[in-house]
This record gives sequence, structure tokens and C-alpha cells, in this order.
Amino acid sequence: VLGLAVATQPAWADRAARDLDRVLCDHAHCEMKAASNALALSARCTPWPSVMRALLDLAEEELAHFRRVLCEIERRGLALGPPEEDYYAAELRRRASAGRRDRSIAAVVTDRLLVGALIEARSCERFKLLSASIRPVDADLAAFYAELFEAEARHHAALTELAGVVTPDAGLVRARLADLARVEAEIVRALPGGATIHG
Ligand SMILES: [Fe+2]
Ligand SMILES: [Fe+2]
Repeated sequence: VLGLAVATQPAWADRAARDLDRVLCDHAHCEMKAASNALALSARCTPWPSVMRALLDLAEEELAHFRRVLCEIERRGLALGPPEEDYYAAELRRRASAGRRDRSIAAVVTDRLLVGALIEARSCERFKLLSASIRPVDADLAAFYAELFEAEARHHAALTELAGVVTPDAGLVRARLADLARVEAEIVRALPGGATIHG
């Protein structure tokens, strides 16, 4: 799916479906982080005004997702606690930055856009799995995850396209995305498969 080099193990969705309270709380934090990452990155995109605006739009949409997940959490009588550690995203960022030779602002921003695109792709893949596995027990929540699955697929495409604005060399962007997708796959293969969006 969406340029991902390895598929999530089906057992992940079963585990997630059995612990939806934890998944929802973790998911809320993922949306909040997606919004704040997009906002922080937009501030570094002043040399590319169209990219800056697109990231502002993305931040607003992710914030709207956060509010909707928060509503679902409250509807279930749950309280949102502090974020759990997201090893997956942190490790992907760390390895992207460790493996980057070009330290220019364009290269840094391009990498952050591509890392974001991969995180969107993985979330998209997992929302689809989760939606299918909870459909028999909670059709409304399944529909919500199906809707988000479409949004994250769109974000994946948008972030990849924005990387091409910052780095107009399409071959270079494609090669870097393939490198990062290989790193992402290595990280995903080693995940314990717990009941979090990136578990
Ligand atoms: Fe989102
Ligand atoms: Fe997203």
C-alpha cells in the first residue's frame, strides 16, 4: 500500500480491536502530533509559500481529526492521559536525519515531508485494517476509521507532492522516498505489535 515496503501483521488489528480504549487515546495524540508537526514545519517553509500554505491546511485538518477522536473518547467516558512514547515515529526521524548527507534547509524540509508521508501511509494502512476488524462490533467507529483512512491516503500523496516542490528533482525525491521506506519497513518489522497506532 502507498509505497510501504512491508505490510502490517494482521495480528496487530486483532490486538488493537480488543483494546480500543487504548487505541483511541493513542490515536488522539497521533492526530495532535500530526497537527503540531505540520505547523512547526510550515514555519520553516517560508522559501516555498505554496508549501507553507498547504502545511497550514494540513495542520487544521489534523486538528479537526484530533477534536473528533477526543469527542469519541469523551463519549465513551474515557479521559485522555499523557501521550505514550511513539518509538516508531521517533526512530524513523532519527534514522532519516542520521542518514542524510545534505544538510541544506531544502534537504532537511524534504526529508521531514517524506517522513511525514510515510507515517501517513502507515496510519492509512492501519486505519483500514482496524476499520475492517471492528466493523462487526462497532459499525460507527468502523465508518469513522474508513473515513480517516481516505484522509491519510490523501495526506500521503499531498506530502510527497510538496517534497517535489521543495526538491524539484523528481528522481532524487523518488530515490530518497524509497530509501526512507526501506528504513520504515525495518522499524515496522521489529515493532512488538501492541495496541497503539504505531505499535
Ligand atoms: Fe489525521
Ligand atoms: Fe494525516
